[in-house]
Amino acid sequence: MRYSQIIDAIHEIQPKSILEVGTWNGHRAVSMCEIALKYDLNVSYLGFDLFEEADAETDAYELNVKAHNSKQSVKEMLERNLPSVTVNLVRGNTNDTLKGFKGRYDFAFIDGGHSVDTIINDGDNTSHIPFRLFDDYYIPDKQGRCPDLTKYGCNSYIESLDRNLYDVTILEKADPIKQGGFTQLVKVIIK
Ligand SMILES: C[S@@+](CC[C@H](N)C(=O)[O-])C[C@H]1O[C@@H](n2cnc3c(N)ncnc32)[C@H](O)[C@@H]1O
Repeated sequence: MRYSQIIDAIHEIQPKSILEVGTWNGHRAVSMCEIALKYDLNVSYLGFDLFEEADAETDAYELNVKAHNSKQSVKEMLERNLPSVTVNLVRGNTNDTLKGFKGRYDFAFIDGGHSVDTIINDGDNTSHIPFRLFDDYYIPDKQGRCPDLTKYGCNSYIESLDRNLYDVTILEKADPIKQGGFTQLVKVIIK
């Protein structure tokens, strides 16, 4: 349910350049770029993921439940579905690959590792991007169940942001998490 808000955001800012942390199988990249292409024929996409470097250890640490994909198979799928888009993919742990990142992008979707320290790393290294959406803002359900916010989710990063520098909005639509609690998207715009 919450993902329709990503499409709304792309319509809103009409980005020419899109960055995604957590490309996974590439389907989100296709849906985001297809909307961006309605506004500009020159769209570029940069995606970061562990790809085949993901293993049982990173799944446990990052609370990842999704299947692993190879960088090559995702690249081929993106080139087939987005022939006019300049696609670049970066394989590896963003705690290494995003360090010191200075690339200029109009829009970023931050949805990689779920550990607090990885999300802080991903947030800090994309802090110059004017419009960002973060997944994995967790809130408790009626039974009070919620992932451990000291270990997982973007809540700590979002709460640390200086409100004099950023407009921060927790988006309305919440999806249930299997283990209990809900997850939402957060919009972060440089003022
Ligand atoms: C929830 S999935 C991304 C889903 C995708 N953004 C979408 O909307 O369909 C998270 C992805 O982040 C990747 N990931 C997890 N931890 C990572 C890390 N530390 N560095 C890079 N990628 C990571 C996983 O391999 C997985 O593909």
